[in-house]
Amino acid sequence: MSLPAIAITKLVKRFGDSTVLQDIDLEIPEGKVSCLIGPSGSGKSTLLRCLAFLEEPTSGMITINGEALGFFEAPNGKRERLPPAQIRAVRAKTGMVFQQFNLWPHMTALGNVSEALKTVHKLPKGEAEARALAQLRKVGLENRANHYPSQLSGGQQQRVAIARALALEPKIMLFDEPTSALDPELTGEVLNVMRDLAAEGMTMVVVTHEIGFAATVAHQISFLDHGRLLFSGPPSEIFAKPRHPRLDQFLDTYLDRGASMLA
Ligand SMILES: Nc1ncnc2c1ncn2[C@@H]1O[C@H](COP(=O)(O)OP(=O)(O)OP(=O)(O)O)[C@@H](O)[C@H]1O
Ligand SMILES: [Mg+2]
Repeated sequence: MSLPAIAITKLVKRFGDSTVLQDIDLEIPEGKVSCLIGPSGSGKSTLLRCLAFLEEPTSGMITINGEALGFFEAPNGKRERLPPAQIRAVRAKTGMVFQQFNLWPHMTALGNVSEALKTVHKLPKGEAEARALAQLRKVGLENRANHYPSQLSGGQQQRVAIARALALEPKIMLFDEPTSALDPELTGEVLNVMRDLAAEGMTMVVVTHEIGFAATVAHQISFLDHGRLLFSGPPSEIFAKPRHPRLDQFLDTYLDRGASMLA
């Protein structure tokens, strides 16, 4: 058994008085796809944002690629903050793709993908653009490099967003409902890019309502409900009956075509 890419231990996240994640223990296997499912408001995005260090956990521990970061709450309710340099270093290990593609509208596809390579990684323009072009090729958009986001379909924009994250060479890719904002006919091209990435052995954590995708691509599916992890296991187990009543209820609501075949 190789070490997990991410180990989450007793993770708690509160916003004020509201506990959004409660005692989450989860391991994300290296080189595999892990899907997070659960009803709206169950804490999926918050968990993903904690893994990307866009949100600081209230308490618990997150180990990414062997680097352990602990979060503690002092008795007076104050949190001890990690040094920003440490947060930046761990954050660089993950790439994140959001539901809304968040491309810079005034930059071409090439500009969007090469920008951080120039400004953050300080690569010379030519090298940054060559790397960006290679990533655009990977998502099938080399011939759209000079298009602006407004000239691209939603599916193409999301593929540019994936290329942008990949360009920074993350160890782990985090996806938060990457196809939810797309028309149904455009979800396939994005899911195919994600399938290719999975086949290459990228470690991926994917929040999704595409149960069919989860069933066929995920190594592990985890079900969150009201901030608690109710189930985590291989697809064959999550769809097997009898199921936890909350999971049963959820799957009834969210079954898409792919999963109705499995049910
Ligand atoms: N910055 C914040 N401040 C206060 N409460 C928040 C904040 N972010 C999220 N929450 C609350 O945390 C809970 C979990 O939200 P989260 O966005 O993680 O759910 P989700 O499972 O991603 O839902 P959805 O499927 O609708 O995207 C919700 O009750 C939400 O209102
Ligand atoms: Mg969400």
